[in-house]
Amino acid sequence: ALVRRTCFVTGAVGMDGCPEADRGEVAFIGRSNVGKSSLVNMLTNRKSLAFISKTPGKTQQFNYFAVNDKPDLARQIRYGDEVLGSKDRDSFYIVDLPGFGFAKVPQKQRQEWSDFMDEYLTTRETLRVIFHLVDARIGPTEEDAKIMHKVGAIIGSKQQRNHAKYVIILTKADKNVKSASSKNPGKVSESVRNKLCETMKANKVGYAPIVVTSAETRLGRDEVWRYLRLAAEQ
Ligand code: GTP
Ligand code: MG
Repeated sequence: ALVRRTCFVTGAVGMDGCPEADRGEVAFIGRSNVGKSSLVNMLTNRKSLAFISKTPGKTQQFNYFAVNDKPDLARQIRYGDEVLGSKDRDSFYIVDLPGFGFAKVPQKQRQEWSDFMDEYLTTRETLRVIFHLVDARIGPTEEDAKIMHKVGAIIGSKQQRNHAKYVIILTKADKNVKSASSKNPGKVSESVRNKLCETMKANKVGYAPIVVTSAETRLGRDEVWRYLRLAAEQ
């Protein structure tokens, strides 16, 4: 099994709230309600590890989940019902970020998240993959273009202290009824794909790999795990 155990570690609101950088990690970013927390649950085979909501703005911190650490009962550090572990050979962190662009989040809060994200993407040395989640039905929005712009400015800059890979994940592909037949649920419309490529080009993020997923049907799980292994292997 790829995932033996996962537990919530901490919710960070600034760099000093992040756990010790002692293993690889991957981050899930994207606009509010795109399905970040749902995907984290699907990938880790959990129903409610990361909290999900119909209402945008559910995730309010940088939530750290440890995958495949060893339960360390001696430490007796309990978070909810879970026991924090110690690092195992193939352990890594998944970081679920607050969503972008939710109107009801106050401007001050948004600015704080945005600044934290800049600093995080630039300086977190153990960051291996940045997953940007985009809704498969509607393709990249204004908000997504802003995220790409941010990532494009950081990736490959002299300030960047990691060699994080940038990967696009299309979410909710099960709902992509217009273009996908039941025979081929992973098919995303040409117009979404083209728009995605245009937006990538305009924001200088290179041509990132695109993975089509559904948290509902578990489509794309193995493909995303190929990237998660990049974080687990160091
Ligand atoms: P924030 O934390 O607010 O940024 O949202 P999020 O990106 O974490 O989204 P979340 O996982 O909470 O999901 C938002 C809504 O989309 C929920 O109602 C989910 O049930 C739904 N959803 C997420 N993934 C899928 C999917 O693959 N298919 C379908 N049909 N619905 C999904
Ligand atoms: Mg969330």
